[in-house]
Order: sequence, then structure tokens, then C-alpha cells
Amino acid sequence: MSRPPIIQTVRDLQDAAERERAAGRRIALVPTMGALHAGHLSLVKAAREHADVVWMSIFVNPTQFNDSNDFGAYPADLSRDLELCASHGVDLVFAPAPGELYPEGAQTWVEVGELAESLCGATRPGHFRGVTTVVTKLFLAARPHVAVFGQKDFQQLAIIRRMERDLGFGIEIVGAATVREPDGLALSSRNLHLGPQARQQALVLVRALDVAEDSLARGEASHEALVALVARTIDTASLARLDYAELRDPDTLRSARAQITAPTLLALAVHFAPDPDGQGRKVRLIDNRVLQPQR
Ligand code: PAJ
Repeated sequence: MSRPPIIQTVRDLQDAAERERAAGRRIALVPTMGALHAGHLSLVKAAREHADVVWMSIFVNPTQFNDSNDFGAYPADLSRDLELCASHGVDLVFAPAPGELYPEGAQTWVEVGELAESLCGATRPGHFRGVTTVVTKLFLAARPHVAVFGQKDFQQLAIIRRMERDLGFGIEIVGAATVREPDGLALSSRNLHLGPQARQQALVLVRALDVAEDSLARGEASHEALVALVARTIDTASLARLDYAELRDPDTLRSARAQITAPTLLALAVHFAPDPDGQGRKVRLIDNRVLQPQR
């Protein structure tokens, strides 16, 4: 299968958008940082259902990494990514150089308020400011009708929806379900960095989500008790250290009430250490589920 055309400048992408729009075609954009896996490719499939042409951006955005080691270690293999784009019907890839999106001396930011302050916003300062800034630049360059994001990054999706409404982009934001390994671990480019033992122990995230869901189904509606249960579950994995486990309103991301009586987001972030024999690196993983209380 032939590789999709690659565009590297904002100007060329805007021209391509102009042409598609003039021809009456709907453009869907799938923003990524590359290192593509089946989760990213599921977004391409979702995008296809909403548009005539599917464009993917591949850009490892430096401003959203609060940890420079994480940025330096971020996996990159453009050639493999392009093969995957070709075999999944991506019509065009936008792969700009960093200086294209952040011109020399850049000092303009897009920042969402309260929604970006808690959860990953609290433990990764500046992260969401980097995300919303780059997504704004991608929206202005690609001028899509639709943009697709994964529910795995639940807070990111909520923030982008808010930003889209606040700035009036007129872009339909589509959320797509989390794709998982057969054993339940949510796909993530960072899974590659887990040592074999940490990889096994990483199942504790989905186990903690299950435990909370089962408890709620059996009548345990106490916010405090459910969070404690999740923390104890994460604690059973020797290489894991809880970053946060929080019950939140799925729309506002405000803390859930003392009793869980409405659909509630359980959001988790967990640090994993390298294996005791030194294999793997430090990795931070996230996962989430919207818990549905029994009526
Ligand atoms: P990245 O981590 O590459 O993810 C790109 C998109 O893929 C995001 O919308 C993310 O939610 C989605 N995704 C990741 N893992 C997934 C999975 N297991 N199942 C379904 N979707 C999944 O998120 C980013 O990049 C960046 O912050 C970005 C939005 C591109 C801005 O730089």
C-alpha cells in the first residue's frame, strides 16, 4: 500500500485544507505523538465514520512534557508509523519540525482553567497548557470539521471539549473508547518501557477499576471507602506507587460527593519502578472508568 503524502509546514496544510473544503469534503483530524499502536488506529477508524478524508498529525510536542527524561525517551519511528497509516487508510500525515509549530521566540499559550488544574494537571504542572496550545495550533493548521481523541486520556478529552466550546472553533470533538491488550492493560506508548515484572504488575490498574466497580455494584457507595479500596489494591503491586486515585464528576471533573449515587469517573495514575534486575524504566500509567451506580 502506498504511503500517504506527508506535509511538514503549516502553510501547506492550510492549503490542503482549503482544497478539501472547496471540494466539499469533510476533514477529520487525529492528533498523535506517533509510536502508533492499535489505540491510535482505532481513532482513525472512528474518524472515517465522521468524515471523507482522515488526516493524522504526528508530533512529539515538547511543551507538554514536564519531565525532560520522559521527552527524551519518547519512542519515535516515523517510518513504521507511516506504514501503519498507509495500511489503515490515513489520507495525509502532518509531521512538522518543532520550529514549525513553535517559531523562534514563541510566547503564546492557550490555557484552560479549573478542568486542567486537578488530576494529571496537579501532578504534571504545565502539561495541559502544552496540550491545549499544540492542539490549537493543529486545529488552525488543519482546519478540520472533526477531531478524534481517546477516552483513555479522559481529562485531556474533557479539556479539549471545553477549549473547543470556549474558543468557538466549530469543530466536532469525538471521543473514542480505550483499546486494551488482551489481558486488560490499556495500550500506551509508554508500556514499551515497562520491565517484564512491571508489565505483569501493571494489570493492577485495571484490577483496581474492577474492584471499585464490583464494590459499588455490591452496595458500597462510600466515596472514601472506594478510594481506600483502590489504594489498597494498587499497594499489592510491589513496583507500583499510587500517584492519584480519584472519584470525580465526569463532566466537571469536580470531586464526587461523599456517596456515589450518579455516574462517576474513577481516574487512576500509578508510577512503576524498573524491575529489581534493572530491566525497564520508570513509567507512569493512567487509566479510568465511569462507574455506574445501581438504581
Ligand atoms: P498520544 O499519547 O500519542 O495519543 C494520541 C491519541 O490517542 C489521544 O487522543 C489518546 O487519547 C489516544 N489513545 C492513546 N492510547 C489509547 C488507547 N489505548 N485507546 C484509545 N485511544 C488511545 O494524547 C496525545 O498523544 C497528545 O497529548 C496530543 C493530543 C497528540 C497533543 O500533543
